[in-house]
Amino acid sequence: MSTSRPSGDWRRTHTCGELSAANIGETVTLNGWVHARRDLGGLYFVDLRDRYGITQLLVGEHIADAVRLSAEDVVSVRGKVIARESPNPERATGEIEIEVEHLEILSKSKVPPFEVSGGDLPSIETRLRHRYVDLRREPMQRNILHRSRFTSAIRRALEDRGFADIETPILTKATPEGARDYLVPSRVHPGCFYALPQSPQIFKQILMVAGFDRYYQIAKCFRDEDLRADRQPDFTQLDVEMCFVEEEDVFDVFEGILSEAFREVLGVELAVPFPRIPWREAMERFGVDKPDTRFGMELRDVGSWAAESEFQVFRKVVEGGGRVKGISVPGGAEMSRKQIDALGAFALEFGAKGLAWWKADAGGGSGPLARFCDGERAGALMELMGAESGDLCLFVAASEDVVHRALGELRVKLGRERGLVTEGWNFLWVTRFPMFDWDEDAGRWTSSHHPFTAPADWDLGGATGPDDPSLGELESRAYDLVLNGWELGSGSIRIHRQDVQERIFEVLGIGEEERREKFGFLLEALSYGAPPHGGFAIGIDRIVALTLGLDNIRDVIAFPKTTSAQDLMCKAPSPVRPEQLADVHIQLTERAERALASGAEEGAETSAPTDAEASERS
Ligand code: AMO
Ligand code: AMP
Repeated sequence: MSTSRPSGDWRRTHTCGELSAANIGETVTLNGWVHARRDLGGLYFVDLRDRYGITQLLVGEHIADAVRLSAEDVVSVRGKVIARESPNPERATGEIEIEVEHLEILSKSKVPPFEVSGGDLPSIETRLRHRYVDLRREPMQRNILHRSRFTSAIRRALEDRGFADIETPILTKATPEGARDYLVPSRVHPGCFYALPQSPQIFKQILMVAGFDRYYQIAKCFRDEDLRADRQPDFTQLDVEMCFVEEEDVFDVFEGILSEAFREVLGVELAVPFPRIPWREAMERFGVDKPDTRFGMELRDVGSWAAESEFQVFRKVVEGGGRVKGISVPGGAEMSRKQIDALGAFALEFGAKGLAWWKADAGGGSGPLARFCDGERAGALMELMGAESGDLCLFVAASEDVVHRALGELRVKLGRERGLVTEGWNFLWVTRFPMFDWDEDAGRWTSSHHPFTAPADWDLGGATGPDDPSLGELESRAYDLVLNGWELGSGSIRIHRQDVQERIFEVLGIGEEERREKFGFLLEALSYGAPPHGGFAIGIDRIVALTLGLDNIRDVIAFPKTTSAQDLMCKAPSPVRPEQLADVHIQLTERAERALASGAEEGAETSAPTDAEASERS
């Protein structure tokens, strides 16, 4: 359509976000999308939009094409900058408007599936299917550009500290991070598959062996796992590895780069150093390994009180080696029976057998526990709980795991619901995670972090073999970075000794043959002069979402997937032609054939996230 004028004539002299009173009288050319058009009878007010802002146009009826203009058309206009009769202080360009002398429609738009300029937000499926329209909306533009500024600030901060940006392969061998691998069949090697990396973990360690000393990468990672609001099948990590370091060196780098990025992008001064909390302490105080420390209501151990109590349930649990702990809700004594019962039902979801409650008062208080709070027992319980008269104390007696899970979840729920959560950026390092977790079903140990994490003691606490129960007590040198109750990232000091790495594989039940086949190249690399090293990876999607106050990382990813791992815009995954399958030596099972024939592909789309799912968090 743009053929009526000499080439280049239509191109913008300014963006839609930059003209002000200082430009009055100038003749300018603007390009952009028709954001809104109002017909004032013989005159149109048109809002022209681009990435930088919105400028108001005055388009007279005499202008050719004025009548044909509709929302989301792409146009070029030339005209004079004039002062607006009624300035709009909300808009950067609100002092001026353009008296249009020439208008050209560069590209017509069909009626868009939903309004860019406002209106009701359509379903997430519609937004994802027409993501190019969704991304034009102001909040999405802001999110995506904020992400770009954030990663760019991080890159600068890392480059300033001597980190080298090095890419690692996407078509590779499995890197275990606890999820299923995405596999890619090889055409040239029948029956063989590449795995997409769950993280660059092994490659970054090998880069340390290769002497690169300080590596970083903004890396795509792929994990076939259950998806939630904070998980996508392909996502981005800021991945870092360093030679000759201990935990504190890694913490120092991340505190530095995050401080710089927060200052530059958000104008926020972070308080550094971030607190460090050993994993055990985090579990004892908050019940979870990613504590939200913006409010108190910490878990209190009342085991000593329970052991002497006449309340059978409590006494039996203590005698059986379980734990009795509680949280006290400030001013919670006002809560109704119904509200407290709802909390009880909530605790049951996390395995608790009940939720005992007590409205604290030195005179004996009220609630089911009050009859066990005669005389001094009331004051003693208040002291253990750090409770004041008028607080509601909630108790769970069970195994340690259940006590922590139920009270940890209750604490977060109550903190949010009762408005105890204050504004702030509460970063903290959780350190010294356990080295191994016991997998009851498989009857073996698994790594709490990943198998390359160094144990706190190179000798594994003198453990005699994989059956030694003391392995459950062994601490690792893994750490997490937590922000306001979200796990942002994980890392560890690594095993740089081949003998220790072999021992860890042995504990994990990875036999000699499997070891050679899966990790032979790493073990070999470790035997050619591996320096002590450690590193860290932050989920970029998560930190960007959090800095924008968003719950779902989908909103900071240009082309995200649904909770059923589909890209609704390009319709991936999708069936391929039989020749393509033959090329890569793949034959579909009957089940797959049936699913394709019955159009299951279409059906699966309906399992895009509901709003409830979307607000769900890990
Ligand atoms: P980890 O597996 O803990 O550690 O991952 C690090 C961080 O990556 C982010 N993340 C995700 N974000 C979105 N969607 C997902 N599916 C997803 N999975 C993980 C989280 C997480 O904290 N190689 C180690 C790091 C290391 O040891 O250096 C690793 O990948 O924010
Ligand atoms: P009961 O003696 O069964 O009537 O229980 C008295 C109170 O103790 C009720 O509020 C129960 O919810 C609570 N309760 C029962 N079992 C437990 C438990 N294991 N931990 C905490 N509270 C419990």
